[in-house]
Amino acid sequence: MARVLIACEFSGTVRRAFRKAGHEAWSCDLLEAEDGGEHLVGDALDAVLHDGPWDLMIAHPPCTHLAVSGARWFKGKQREQTRALDFVRALLDAPIEHIALENPVSIISSKIREPDQIIQPWQFGHGEVKATCLWLKNLPTLKPTDIVDGRRPRVHYASPGPDRWKERSRTLSGIAGAMAEQWGAVI
Ligand SMILES: C[S@@+](CC[C@H](N)C(=O)[O-])C[C@H]1O[C@@H](n2cnc3c(N)ncnc32)[C@H](O)[C@@H]1O
Repeated sequence: MARVLIACEFSGTVRRAFRKAGHEAWSCDLLEAEDGGEHLVGDALDAVLHDGPWDLMIAHPPCTHLAVSGARWFKGKQREQTRALDFVRALLDAPIEHIALENPVSIISSKIREPDQIIQPWQFGHGEVKATCLWLKNLPTLKPTDIVDGRRPRVHYASPGPDRWKERSRTLSGIAGAMAEQWGAVI
């Protein structure tokens, strides 16, 4: 049974998928877990250092200051951007054998390095489009599990309101299941 840290996850989606596959998975976020599951509230870098050892970390750091879709807001945000990139670098450099870091198309590609893979929800059973980049350390690229019709932009699924960002950022269950099945077999 491997110990798995799901960094920057409030939904518990990836944590539940790894638990279902028999691993000791914990999510960690500055926010409480919305499902009341096994969860550490606080900075993910503290969880890396103080709650390990971890065999695998899957990290979903905030993309607010990094996503290319928000490029028109970049001006005057250099400090936030530098801080966000430093957080990504620290996660990628964490002393953990297997690491995956997920983000939309973002300046991580130009400022740190190109992603190892770009996946789409429609490759994993959700009829939606949202390019999701994966930066991988000692992990294979994810194989599509269920290619379906439907190419609706993911953003259309979020209703307006203060929790819109949560709806848009929640990891999809098909992708979480593929991570647990395929990467759980590696660790
Ligand atoms: C893009 S969302 C990812 C949501 C995730 N996909 C899910 O299904 O819950 C980024 C998350 O990172 C969290 N976060 C930001 N800074 C953090 C930190 N230093 N340590 C842990 N979590 C952090 C935010 O609270 C937010 O929930």
